[in-house]
Amino acid sequence: MAFIIDGKAISAKIKDELKEEVAALKAAGREIALAVIQVGSDPASSVYVNNKKKACAYIGIESLSYEFAEDITQEELLELIAELNGREDVNGILVQLPLPKHINEELVINAISPEKDVDGFHPASVGAMCIGQPGFLSCTPAGIIQLLKRSNIEIEGKNCVVIGRSNIVGKPMALLLLRENGTVTIAHSRTKDLKAVAKAADILIVAIGKPKFINSEYVKDGAVVIDVGIHRDENNKLCGDVDYDDVIEKVSAITPVPGGVGPMTIAMLMNNCVESARG
Ligand code: GUN
Repeated sequence: MAFIIDGKAISAKIKDELKEEVAALKAAGREIALAVIQVGSDPASSVYVNNKKKACAYIGIESLSYEFAEDITQEELLELIAELNGREDVNGILVQLPLPKHINEELVINAISPEKDVDGFHPASVGAMCIGQPGFLSCTPAGIIQLLKRSNIEIEGKNCVVIGRSNIVGKPMALLLLRENGTVTIAHSRTKDLKAVAKAADILIVAIGKPKFINSEYVKDGAVVIDVGIHRDENNKLCGDVDYDDVIEKVSAITPVPGGVGPMTIAMLMNNCVESARG
């Protein structure tokens, strides 16, 4: 029987732990605020942003909401970030991605002070993570490490295969698994014989962005499977990058979609905000 890794329950527990810590910080006279910037009205982004604001309210973090029309200039956005960087009452700055095409995302991310980079996207944050120095960790990969640890799944010495090499999931995921003493392989769209590579994994992390791409032919008996994808299938039902029903008999543990990795991203964002306030 596969163990279903309950991201909803684990994220709820983390949020409750943070709520307690925030109450203690407030009792000591400390306030915590996160600036949340959204440009345009992409429906998926609006859902994510609202969920982040809801999590802030639950934990006791003030969210400062900045919503702009699609035609805000890059300069205006950079000016706002500079202002927020300088504000002592703002602990974190989150710019929801993607941004409209006329705005250079890299420039915007680089403008956020690394001390307030609660998404962990700034090159200074990524570099610090790479060499094991303190800094904010990218939320989705950090959330996956928490899922594994809190489910008592050992990483040390395990063959960990990450499928996907994006800057916000695949690459930082590989580095964090390495930090936990996993033996790490990064596979991607150009990998030869992906099935054989994936099948060598004790822990298989899938972040390829293709619905139900990974079936039982890619999975070793008894593997742990972490599914980062979120899509709508042909029946408009949420599904991941992994064909859950096809692999479920084979795996020893798996994250469902929804209710697996998704809720952890927000929990880790909240964790980064509290860490920023903790100083
Ligand atoms: N867009 C999709 N995922 C994310 C995320 O984790 N943070 C931000 N800022 N934008 C996103």
